[in-house]
Amino acid sequence: MCGIIGYVGKGNVIDVILKGLTNLEYRGYDSAGIALRDNNEIKIFKTLGKLINLKNEIEAHKSEIYNPTSGIGHIRWATHGSPSVTNAHPHTCTCGRLVVVHNGIIENYKELREELIKKNCRFVSQTDTEVIAHLVADEFGKIKDLETAVRNSVKKLQGTYAICVMHKDVPDLIVGARKHAPMIVGVGEGENFIASDTPALVEYTKKTIYLDDNEIAIVTKDKIKITDIEGNEVTKKVEVLPWEPVALSKLGYKHFMLKEIHEQPDVIRNVLNGKLYDISEPISLNEVKLNKEILKKLNKIQIIACGTSLHAALAGKYIIEDFAGISVEVEASSEYIYRKTTTDASTLVIGVSQSGETADTITAIKQAKEKGAHVLIITNRPDSNMARLADSLIPLNAGIEVSVAATKSYTAQLISFYLLAMHLAEIKESLDKEYLTQIKHELIQLPTKIEGVLSDTSAIQACARQFSSYKNFIYIARGINLATSLEGALKLKEISYINATGYAAGELKHGPIAMLDETMPVLSILVTGGITYEKVLSNCEEAKARNAKLIALTTSTDTNIDNIFDVVLRIPQVNEILSPVVTCVPLQLLAYYIAEFLGKDVDQPRNLAKSVTVE
Ligand code: AGP
Repeated sequence: MCGIIGYVGKGNVIDVILKGLTNLEYRGYDSAGIALRDNNEIKIFKTLGKLINLKNEIEAHKSEIYNPTSGIGHIRWATHGSPSVTNAHPHTCTCGRLVVVHNGIIENYKELREELIKKNCRFVSQTDTEVIAHLVADEFGKIKDLETAVRNSVKKLQGTYAICVMHKDVPDLIVGARKHAPMIVGVGEGENFIASDTPALVEYTKKTIYLDDNEIAIVTKDKIKITDIEGNEVTKKVEVLPWEPVALSKLGYKHFMLKEIHEQPDVIRNVLNGKLYDISEPISLNEVKLNKEILKKLNKIQIIACGTSLHAALAGKYIIEDFAGISVEVEASSEYIYRKTTTDASTLVIGVSQSGETADTITAIKQAKEKGAHVLIITNRPDSNMARLADSLIPLNAGIEVSVAATKSYTAQLISFYLLAMHLAEIKESLDKEYLTQIKHELIQLPTKIEGVLSDTSAIQACARQFSSYKNFIYIARGINLATSLEGALKLKEISYINATGYAAGELKHGPIAMLDETMPVLSILVTGGITYEKVLSNCEEAKARNAKLIALTTSTDTNIDNIFDVVLRIPQVNEILSPVVTCVPLQLLAYYIAEFLGKDVDQPRNLAKSVTVE
């Protein structure tokens, strides 16, 4: 959830580290810090709040900085100890010669802390991280070898960590280590890098080495050595990053979120590319590594995910059950991991995750694998930990998503579920061929329909302005758009901090209706031509009778409904089963414009982090 960059080399150390942290800021942003090796000293700067404060702090002390030759930086999302300058990383040992930055949680930090206090270590922060600084310094004191000191120390740590360490007595050497938290090494010329994620490096090098658990990276400007935890040198593959630095630019949009919403038509084309190229041909989904005979007999799927990915999973359940007739259970990863599940070797378990680093989902996937299930991962990060655990992998190809609120990864996940469900339907012969061809045809049309929504957002903006002062919202829908209502409400909550809840429209009268009055807008999703339109409309009438303000998001061209609703947001006609791909877009925009009108920090909402790497 936090971000790390370490750098040693010929470049401008401050610029490289601050640029790297800027590209990681979407991962955490409650405080930041940097340690520089400069003029034979370690100089530390730490600030509370956004990275801009650290940049200003460094600027203010420019005259005290000569020519740094290496450094480590960190952007924090607090777990242990509130956001404060003291708790910000880097942390140091008592004498201040050793500095460390850390992502993850050290579970046995209290025991270690007590032991180290007995050895006269002086602790100043409330963080778990500080024990690492004292521990490595203690080891270094005995053996005067930083690499071995780190190796000996991490053996004593329980929990998750990606760390980067520097010592005053070992010039221009940075040491990284990881366990259950991502860490990569960037390979340059006359310079090398350590980072927690690729965006930190993409402006400087595309060549990366992915560290595995319990590996240590020993990095100078000219040399990279990777060892296992016993010190044996390990030969690693240098991989080339698929992204251009431009992926991290807003390209003229005010926020990444708006840019990413607008990227969705192309993202969908990308996901379909190569998998659905001719509607008369079967879906090509070679990524699913189960043979046809097994897939034919498959009768249980479990999908595990969190947040927005969980909403995509819920839509996925409707799609798979509808197309392939296979029973699908959907569960939040955090629930799956703390109960007896029915997962067994005959279950296909699907993990869905934009980041591929969500701790709850990783744990759930590991449990499913232990039970012998085949694990299929749908992720936007084929280089992630989760992807590495996959038996089958469907990459989303949505491009890097910077805004903390997921948008384009959601639509890419939905499209992946359509492809998977059609693939299963073709193997099981569960759908009429003509119908399937029709669905494929309509699927290909979806990007154009979304372009229709994006080409004129004035009605959505006006609606956002009209409703931005309301404190509560209810979103309702039935059938496959229940997932859309949950996702639409989540988007609004996340970036505007307005209380919004999605309900199955039929559930309204079983309780939530008690909350309805003129202060409670009800947004309903009404897709014509399917099986839910009339029923949702009746639920809207019930809400109107309780004086609720009504917003319709609909494919209906019937102007009579304008008398029922306060605002009608019209979208292009779309088949109900495919409609979530289109209906989610105006809801993303509505949340965006409301947050914008309220002056909220759209791309980096408070308390959130882009990838949640703690359980
Ligand atoms: C989405 O807007 C959220 N920021 C959040 O709910 C997210 O979807 C969730 O944390 C899961 O993340 P993942 O898809 O990377 O696993």
